[in-house]
Amino acid sequence: MAQNIEKIDRSTFQNKHLIGIEALNKDEITLILDLANTYADALDKGNFQSDVLKSKIILMLFFEDSTRTRTSFEIAAKRLGADVVHWDVKTSSLNKGESFHDTITTLNAMCPDAIIVRHSEYGAPKTISTLVDCPVINAGDSWNEHPTQALLDALAMRRHFGQIEGLTVSIIGDIAHSRVASSNMKLLTKMGVNVRIIAPPILIPEKLPSDKIEKFKSLEDGIKNADVVMTIRPQKERMKSVLIEDESYFKDYGLTKDKLKLAKDTAIVLDPGPFLRNVQISNDLADDTEQFLYLKQVTGGIATRMAVMDILVRDK
Ligand code: NCD
Repeated sequence: MAQNIEKIDRSTFQNKHLIGIEALNKDEITLILDLANTYADALDKGNFQSDVLKSKIILMLFFEDSTRTRTSFEIAAKRLGADVVHWDVKTSSLNKGESFHDTITTLNAMCPDAIIVRHSEYGAPKTISTLVDCPVINAGDSWNEHPTQALLDALAMRRHFGQIEGLTVSIIGDIAHSRVASSNMKLLTKMGVNVRIIAPPILIPEKLPSDKIEKFKSLEDGIKNADVVMTIRPQKERMKSVLIEDESYFKDYGLTKDKLKLAKDTAIVLDPGPFLRNVQISNDLADDTEQFLYLKQVTGGIATRMAVMDILVRDK
């Protein structure tokens, strides 16, 4: 297996950083997915450990809360033999008045081999990439991008259906405030997927990344014959005021087993997590691991982040 991983040609990847799906072309996305798929096969066999990132230091800068993404990056880095250092915003000198710029240049002077960053400000990872010498990987910035989440979602679809081109993916929920929806719309349209978004008009952004994306107000219309239904949490932390109540949201936009019957018989449901039971998705559907592949997404997230760090951080 290790040989297969080594046989994949990484030279098509031209970016130093992974700031967003925006900057990637189809070949670069395919390369990450090919490598992630190979790592996922190796991880499935159990006890996979590599040393391609031995003696590399990965610095984690999480300015915002995280359960899945931070842990997933750490496990992925350790599976590749790297050391991980966590910087903690709550105990940092930003609280003593140090500027963001000075904090970042200070950390850069310690020569990490890569920085993984999550930030509540739109564009913060890009700014950091201009201030440091090492690769920067965006682990989510505001409602802008969450590239490794979209890549791991694509990996889940590819491992389930064999390929993603030609699928119909319906994304339900808070498209306006979700970085996951934003990165997914970019990735899926670049990869030849038919993308639909389903949301109340107030949760649809003014501008979409592609004019091929179809908009639906009705969940029932938007999931007809879909291969994949992706649910997205109302991102209340980014709304200036409550735009929609949980109960009415569930009635109109909550996914249930009955509504899912309108999609293809073979349809799967994905969610980036954290998912809200009986708001986004009914309890019984959330517990149905045949149709709701959330845990497979989480597992595949490790392989996806291993692929990204392998490409960006290992010695060329
Ligand atoms: C998401 C995030 O933080 O962007 N979660 C994740 O990283 N898997 C989605 C969300 O918070 O709704």
